[in-house]
Amino acid sequence: MLTIRRITKKDEPSVLGLIKELDLTYPTQKLDNFWVVEENREIIGLADLKEFDDFWLLSSVGVDKKHQHRGVASLLLKELIKDLKKDVYLYTITPEFFSRLGFQIVPRPSDLPAREIFNCAECRPQHCVCMVKRP
Ligand SMILES: CC(C)(COP(=O)(O)OP(=O)(O)OC[C@H]1O[C@@H](n2cnc3c(N)ncnc32)[C@H](O)[C@@H]1OP(=O)(O)O)[C@@H](O)C(=O)NCCC(=O)NCCS
Repeated sequence: MLTIRRITKKDEPSVLGLIKELDLTYPTQKLDNFWVVEENREIIGLADLKEFDDFWLLSSVGVDKKHQHRGVASLLLKELIKDLKKDVYLYTITPEFFSRLGFQIVPRPSDLPAREIFNCAECRPQHCVCMVKRP
C-alpha cells in the first residue's frame, strides 16, 4: 500500500539518499517541507512543497527509478495540491509530465524565487520553464 505523508526525522537519511540519486539536491536545500510516498516501509517518492504569502512552490519531485512509471508521482502531486487555495508554481525541464496534471507554462512572476536557487546538476536553462496550477 502507498502512504503519502509529511517527512519525519527518521526519513531523512532515505530522503537524502533518494534526492542525491535523482540529482535533485541543491546547496541551500532543507528537508522540513518534504512529503514522501512510502511503500513497504521504503521511501519511494518525494516532493518539496513550500508555502509563500501568495503561492506555493513545488520542487524536488522524484520517484525511485525502480518505481517510476507506476503513477507514483502523479498520485503524490494530485494529493498534495488538491486542497491548496493558492497558485502552485514549479520549475521543470519536463513540462509534458506536469501539463498532464493541469500545470501550464507561464512567465516567472517577479516574487517567485529564481530558479537559480535550485542549481540542479542536470539544469538545462534553455529547457527549464516555469509552470503554474491555479486553484
Ligand atoms: C518525473 C518523475 C517524477 C515521474 O515519476 P513517475 O512516478 O514515474 O510518474 P508517473 O508514473 O506518475 O507518470 C509517468 C508519466 O509521466 C511522463 N513522464 C515521466 N517522466 C517524463 C520525462 N522525463 N519527460 C516527459 N514525460 C515524462 C510520461 O508520460 C510517463 O508516462 P509512462 O509511464 O507511460 O512513460 C520521475 O521520472 C523522476 O523522478 N525523474 C527524475 C527526477 C525529475 O526529473 N523530477 C522532475 C524535476 S522538476
